[in-house]
Amino acid sequence: MFEVKYRDGMGRLGELQTPHGVIETPTLLPVVNPKKLTLSVNELEECGATSLITNSYLIWKEEEFRERATKEGVHGLLDWDKPIMTDSGTFQAYMYGEVEVLPEEIIEFQKKIGTDIGTMLDVFTIPKTNFSDAEKELEETDKRMKVAAEMKGEMALNGTIQGGLHMDLRSRAAKMASELDVDVHPIGGVVPLMEKYEFSSLVDIVMNVKMNLIAARPVHLFGCGHPMLFPLAALMGCDLFDSASYAKFAADDRLMFPWGTRKLADLYEMPSCSLASTGLTINEIKKMEDKERVHILAKHNLLTSFSEIRRVKQAIREGSLWELVELRSHCHPNLMKAMEKLREYREYLSKYEPMFRKRGFSVVSEKSPDRPIVHLISKRIPKSDECFVHPLFGSTPRSLSQTQPVAQLPNFEGGRTMEWNEERIVEVIDFQFGKGLGKKILGRNIECIFSEKTGRLRNINRNGRHILSLRPREGRFTLKKEGAIELHKQTKYPSNRVVVEEETAEFNKEGKSVFCQFVLDVDKDLRPMDECLIVTEKDELVAFGQLRVSPCEIEQKQRGYAVRVSEGM
Ligand code: GUN
Repeated sequence: MFEVKYRDGMGRLGELQTPHGVIETPTLLPVVNPKKLTLSVNELEECGATSLITNSYLIWKEEEFRERATKEGVHGLLDWDKPIMTDSGTFQAYMYGEVEVLPEEIIEFQKKIGTDIGTMLDVFTIPKTNFSDAEKELEETDKRMKVAAEMKGEMALNGTIQGGLHMDLRSRAAKMASELDVDVHPIGGVVPLMEKYEFSSLVDIVMNVKMNLIAARPVHLFGCGHPMLFPLAALMGCDLFDSASYAKFAADDRLMFPWGTRKLADLYEMPSCSLASTGLTINEIKKMEDKERVHILAKHNLLTSFSEIRRVKQAIREGSLWELVELRSHCHPNLMKAMEKLREYREYLSKYEPMFRKRGFSVVSEKSPDRPIVHLISKRIPKSDECFVHPLFGSTPRSLSQTQPVAQLPNFEGGRTMEWNEERIVEVIDFQFGKGLGKKILGRNIECIFSEKTGRLRNINRNGRHILSLRPREGRFTLKKEGAIELHKQTKYPSNRVVVEEETAEFNKEGKSVFCQFVLDVDKDLRPMDECLIVTEKDELVAFGQLRVSPCEIEQKQRGYAVRVSEGM
């Protein structure tokens, strides 16, 4: 139901199937209040919305809406034929103390009105709740989630993760919810933190949930609607956002930007393409009638939000999400603090860092060398007699000056082509496959084949057999059959290996990809884009290829491709 297409950090571009079409993630679901439409659904779509969220409790409570939704479905009621998510009344219970509807009743109602993704009536645990009360509330949420999962039928279900500010409860909640038959996991109870700009606590919560949650399901950050937060939340692996903020901020004459919020009264200039394109000046907007002004500001807020969502998507595609988050962290001191908090999770985050990305790194600030990729690379870099100082990675062997991800800075080494020798080849193999393996894999009798046209290193033969090829743009070696056999011989199970079931190994022998579901074990030191061996539990080598996910994603029951097989044995 949810397929991850591209990754960067823990961030992902995914596709969530629903009966009313695919939701491409990450995305924002604007809140639609059927009682009070600040923007029409057509306008929401013009701003970039591809799916909406509305509140099934508010519909249920109002007789007129209840009847119409029962007759025409929620899609008919909102006049929207694309995906709709509904919330359950939890937020109203938090705001007003209680709701009149029963947990089972609201699930039945959401099924009846044909929502694409319904929500259980979770118990909103406010941040200041003490441990024992938060635990009791979590037990109630858990009980209701089990019942809702039994009742959901064809409807996809949001199983909300609560637990307040108690990380052991958040972790427990994520583990429990992963075992149930639900489809999307919202992280709940975080609105009061976002309102108070307590972004460090948000980082702790999201990270503790994500570290314990099944990876195959999308994660929704309930109530997150400020563009300032999208890059950070996406980097931690949040796929969906929802908010009424675009309208609420507008009603209060506040404008949202990826770099913060401004009161209309405090704006002297028009730092917004969407508003500038209306042809109106800031003073003309200030003087408008209330209704017209709120409408125009709501549009600005939503256009800005979707523009930032697209910026995040672009960053994931090109592998620059860390840079974007670092840049945005300079916009508010509490975002800076949140980055500091995130750095405490560097060891875990480094498990997701790919060993190859399409674009070069930019050094954004003096904190850039704290990025997880630096942490990872510094563990892998072999000792060398010939080093240079790299702005991100520090002292680095010259042999890696053309190897990804070290060689990514523009005009690095003045753009010159490095001359290869055996020592340098050994160091690159050590870097890619593990220290000490270069000499073992190459053996004594090697021959380097250079391109006649460009003079660049192409292939390496050992005893007359082709073992490795160099990817010219990446400066990294790919395994050939004889190279895979040698790597297998020189390493012990499960090093450099992805272990698969005997039955599916037959497909991999034919060159077909490995899927996460059929992986029994994986070397935890491998990283996305690493070359790897595919073996059975008896360590029979069946194929080799490139790992496409993080080993911890496989452990957390990700679905889809695990390894793109280069060749079967
Ligand atoms: N909307 C904002 N926060 C929450 C939450 O914790 N639970 C639900 N169901 N809806 C929300």
